[in-house]
Order: sequence, then structure tokens, then C-alpha cells
Amino acid sequence: MLDAELTAARHRRAGEAPRVLDVGGGSGVLAVALAAEGCSVTVVEPSPNALATLHRRAQEAGVADRITAVQGDSDALDQLVGAGSADLVLAHGLLEVVDDPAVTVTALAGALAPGGVLSVLVANRFAAVLHRAISGRLVDARRLLDDPAGTLGGPGEALLRRFDVEGLRALLAGGGLAVELIQGHSVVADLVTGSVLEANPGGPDALAELELVAAVTPPLRDIATRLHGVARR
Ligand SMILES: C[S@@+](CC[C@H](N)C(=O)[O-])C[C@H]1O[C@@H](n2cnc3c(N)ncnc32)[C@H](O)[C@@H]1O
Repeated sequence: MLDAELTAARHRRAGEAPRVLDVGGGSGVLAVALAAEGCSVTVVEPSPNALATLHRRAQEAGVADRITAVQGDSDALDQLVGAGSADLVLAHGLLEVVDDPAVTVTALAGALAPGGVLSVLVANRFAAVLHRAISGRLVDARRLLDDPAGTLGGPGEALLRRFDVEGLRALLAGGGLAVELIQGHSVVADLVTGSVLEANPGGPDALAELELVAAVTPPLRDIATRLHGVARR
């Protein structure tokens, strides 16, 4: 779906490079891949270490001229990038760690050009429960299930919150965006062990096919490790 968006943006811009904004872009895995496909990418990221790795990665891939790295926080997005400037805004792994996800979604929406899309990838609270239960951490699984934010809290917990399908949909709609898709990311792949896959001839292909269908089939979608939301301005 995002490929089709970039093609449409290229047409709208009469062949000019689509403009992508990757907020919380980390060390630039996605940014470099998109720049290699001809996009003009701005990465907003607070961590200097991540930005240093991004810089190295972009140099090695020969796309440094297509990436602008900005050290900063999503809270100050309106001061860092132009309003209404991006065809595609990415926030992958970001909404779980910001102070206020509703404020962040509004800021992300403000950076979108009319007709542009926001892509978010977030941790799923129900998958976190299942994964702990399967690994025998049953007390943690129950605590996660009971916690309104879907977190364990404390020093071992990296995230401030996890999401479910309806919570994510409401969050995106609350930012004034039209939600076009919520699909699962890794529904069964994280539940199938490597040894089971190896013992099964054709296993990896069959798993990939199963994933494609499960990703858009509730209630399987609803227990995916991560949820992918796409919403349009
Ligand atoms: C889980 S990583 C995801 C990195 C990348 N987007 C990916 O999908 O691989 C989250 C990133 O968000 C950054 N981050 C945390 N708080 C942020 C904020 N308030 N604004 C922007 N980025 C933030 C972190 O430094 C980290 O690089």
C-alpha cells in the first residue's frame, strides 16, 4: 500500500521525489531504503547515537544527499519541519514511547500534505499477553492483561503503552485523519518456532502466505505482534 502512495505522490509532484518524514526514525533502516527508492526523506530523531548510525548507513548506501537528519522531538515537530509538507509520514515504534500519543498524532497529521498518509506501527497489548503466557510468564501475562495501558511498568518495561485495534483507530481518527487500514504485522510468525519451520518442507512459503491473509482477518489480526495503521489527511 505504501508503494502505491509513493507512486501517486510522484505523479502529483510531476515526477519530483516524494517527500517522506520519518519521526522517531532511529538509525534510518527505513529512511535509507526509501531514499534508495528515490524519495526525499527527513528523519526527526532525538538520539545522537541513532543519528550517527543513520549518517553512516546513508553514506554507505550512497543516498546521503536524499536524507535530511534533524535532531529533535516529536513534541516540537511544527518547529522542525514545514506544516503540510510530507506525502508520507512514518511513525513506527514511536507512539508507545511518547508522552502523549494524541498530541503526537495531531502533530504528525499537521506535517502531512493534503491527501498524504500517515503510517504507524505500534506494539499490540494482546500479543504481549500471549507471548508472555506462551513463554511461561503467566503472572506477567495476567498483569499485562489487567493494566489499562498494557504495560508492566518498572525498570524492565521499555514501553509506556501498548495498543489494541480500536484504541489505535480512535487515536488516528482523533487527529482528524481518515483511517484507511489497520492490519496485523506478524500474526503467526512470532508464534512458530524455527525448528517447527525447518521440519516442515515449504514451511517458510506457507507461513508467508498465511501471514498475508491473517494480517487482515479479525480476530487473528487483533493478536498480531504489532498493528499497522494507515490514515489519510
Ligand atoms: C523503537 S525505535 C523505532 C525506530 C524506527 N522507527 C524503526 O521502526 O525501526 C523508537 C525511536 O523513537 C525515538 N523517540 C523516542 N521518543 C521520541 C520522541 N518524543 N520524538 C521523536 N522520536 C522519539 C527513539 O529515540 C527511537 O529511535
